[in-house]
Amino acid sequence: MTTTEIFPTEFLQRSHKEALLEQKSKVIWFLGLSGAGKSELALLLEKKLYERGFLTQVLDGDNLRSGLNNNLGFSEADRKENIRRAAEVAKILMNCGVIVIASFISPTNEIQKLVRDIVGEDFIEIFLDCPLEVCEQRDVKGLYAKARAGLIKNFTGIDSPFEKPLNPDLVLHTHLQSKEECLEQILDLILPKITKV
Ligand code: PPS
Repeated sequence: MTTTEIFPTEFLQRSHKEALLEQKSKVIWFLGLSGAGKSELALLLEKKLYERGFLTQVLDGDNLRSGLNNNLGFSEADRKENIRRAAEVAKILMNCGVIVIASFISPTNEIQKLVRDIVGEDFIEIFLDCPLEVCEQRDVKGLYAKARAGLIKNFTGIDSPFEKPLNPDLVLHTHLQSKEECLEQILDLILPKITKV
């Protein structure tokens, strides 16, 4: 069979790349306060999917803000631009057949809508609903203490807003559920959506 017979359209489509990778690409977007457990769950999920043969790419505040977005801070406008670029990168990767696991605070309903609008129908939003008091108590990076001391301005939950997403696909309570429970719920939700039949 010739290439043209296999691919009736002139150029390669996303579906050809998904077929090559034997998976259906999606953007799985974790959001929530700093310290809610986004990055850890994203990395654990990536490992679980790797073990099952899926190709993924993790995008998070730390890896994007140290490179592509290193000119952006935490003002409302900069956060919006940070998330806009992240969503556009996620979309490019998704169109290449890759399953994207993104983890960003994504603090406002306006920003959350922006991501959904950019990514489109293959967007899966997972809200890590963990109370501010718990995140602050964990204070893994020591940033809440600095924010309370006034050393960091515009810190989400302290002097910068966080609005809960309006219609997430999944809500996880990371202060009440174990990592294993969270992962199980995530896998139950996404495996049917990313598995090629
Ligand atoms: S946003 O709001 O979605 O653009 O933020 P994001 O790109 O996810 O970056 C969040 C991480 O940046 C660190 N950090 C801050 N977070 C919130 N507010 C302020 N002012 C701030 N300054 C630095 C913080 O470590 C966040 O990491 P996570 O993984 O969320 O804890």
